[in-house]
Amino acid sequence: MANSIKNICCIGAGFVGGPTMSVIAEKCPHLKINVVDINSERIKLWNSSDLKNLPIFEPGLENIIKVCRGVNLTFSTKVEECIAKADMVFISVNTPTKTKGIGAGQASDLKWVEACARQVAKNACGHTIVVEKSTLPVKTAEVIKKILEDAQDSGNKDSKISFDVLSNPEFLAEGTAIEDLKNPDRVLIGGENKSAILTLDKIYRNWVPKEKILHTNIWSSELAKLTANAFLAQRISSINSIGALCEATGADVREVARAIGTDSRIGSKFLDAGPGFGGSCFKKDILNLVYLSKYFGLNEVAKFWEGVVKLNDWHKHRIPELIVKKLFGTVTGKRIIILGFSFKANTNDTRESSAISICKDLLEEGAILKIHDPKVTKTQIERDLGISEKIIPDKIDNQKRYDFEGSWSYVQEFINSFEDADAVVVLTEWPEYAEINWEIVANKMRKPSWVFDARSIVSSKEVINSNINFWKIGDGSIR
Ligand code: NAD
Ligand code: UGA
Repeated sequence: MANSIKNICCIGAGFVGGPTMSVIAEKCPHLKINVVDINSERIKLWNSSDLKNLPIFEPGLENIIKVCRGVNLTFSTKVEECIAKADMVFISVNTPTKTKGIGAGQASDLKWVEACARQVAKNACGHTIVVEKSTLPVKTAEVIKKILEDAQDSGNKDSKISFDVLSNPEFLAEGTAIEDLKNPDRVLIGGENKSAILTLDKIYRNWVPKEKILHTNIWSSELAKLTANAFLAQRISSINSIGALCEATGADVREVARAIGTDSRIGSKFLDAGPGFGGSCFKKDILNLVYLSKYFGLNEVAKFWEGVVKLNDWHKHRIPELIVKKLFGTVTGKRIIILGFSFKANTNDTRESSAISICKDLLEEGAILKIHDPKVTKTQIERDLGISEKIIPDKIDNQKRYDFEGSWSYVQEFINSFEDADAVVVLTEWPEYAEINWEIVANKMRKPSWVFDARSIVSSKEVINSNINFWKIGDGSIR
């Protein structure tokens, strides 16, 4: 039997906690949802009156915040208080790759998850269902349970605290988070206690059809999340590897993708060649799978999945290398316009964005970069590149060019940035980049000029007709 719950607390107001709880609040007006975070700056932004200042950009999010915030949805730093009130606590904190110690570079750093479990153990009252929303290595539920059970056993007998632990991984993709949450392909709930599973199931049933809610054991649920990301990332490395082969042989990767994607066993999604996968999760989750495989002595399994990340890393360096090659072997003192810095369109997230490593490689080679992104701020780019912006004049005479080598500046209006440029590199598929009038741009650029399209959104015909040299990812037919 499902128990009725009234109060939910979500620990972590990030790219998952924020949108997920917003959609639950919208679909379940009878529930009170408190999202808490230790980052007071982030919470301030979640509470900003101008909805343009929300800490994350997701289409559709503003509308929900407008309706639910202050009604049945709150954002605060009152972690302890909100845990104490809650019948159900979602743990939605970051689980990045460890940077030092055992498993550094592969294993997930679980210190934030453990901290949450301890906070819940200390502050919960009555019966609390603890839900793993963060992506976690298999068997993490065991750790959380142990911490909670110890609190249960050592607590004051009168206070009668008890817990259930569930795994409910999140499959949303950034940029389409709200749509993904409202119409999920599936919702996965893993656990041991039927009643706890049904209690969470009942919340989702407010908008998700019964047949889309899958119940599994807790370890299958934890492992399914890592596996889903590994399979998705594997498709991207596969198509990017074939893209490189297309460039070498005269084939076109889009034609190959269409030809294989019509096979219903393969399917057409996630076959877009690009600058390499980014985002906070693919790399970290595969490396976590690699670590787990090694831990269990499955070295061949580890090597198989490690290959997906290695191919992606190689591919991210391949692009700047070929840019240098095409620009007569040197980009020192050359002006290159970078269009797009987020790891995909419709998000302001830059975590693991291929643009970071591509820009760093070009700066290292001495290029002068002008970087534009409609949603990423100058401060974020500064943080990612680790180099402060330098104001670069629109016109630089040849003698002065080398004063600016290896520096970059931020562009507000990309349309005004092409003056004297040697190359334009499209790294994120923002729709406005598909609308550029290349005839006008060609007149502003220095000759011979180049366009490098890593997202296949620019019209080859228009660029070539404007007498600009053109490279498009995976297109071997352009010579
Ligand atoms: P995030 O870094 O954007 O947000 C995590 C938040 O947790 C931060 O604001 C941080 O301050 C807060 N936090 C950390 N420890 C805390 C504590 N003890 N108490 C209160 N707040 C605390 O991370 P994210 O992108 O939302 O990802 C969260 C989890 O969800 C990760 O495990 C990730 O793998 C997984 N995931 C992410 C996505 C995605 O698209 N970003 C999708 C599916 C799953
Ligand atoms: C991905 C998964 O799609 C989500 O299901 C998962 O919940 C999430 O990771 C997570 O666990 O964090 P996300 O990283 O937000 O979502 O975005 P994706 O659309 O998967 O794109 C990831 C990267 O792959 C982007 O850099 C994107 O440009 C690239 N990509 C995607 C391609 O290069 N080609 C494609 O065909 C698809």
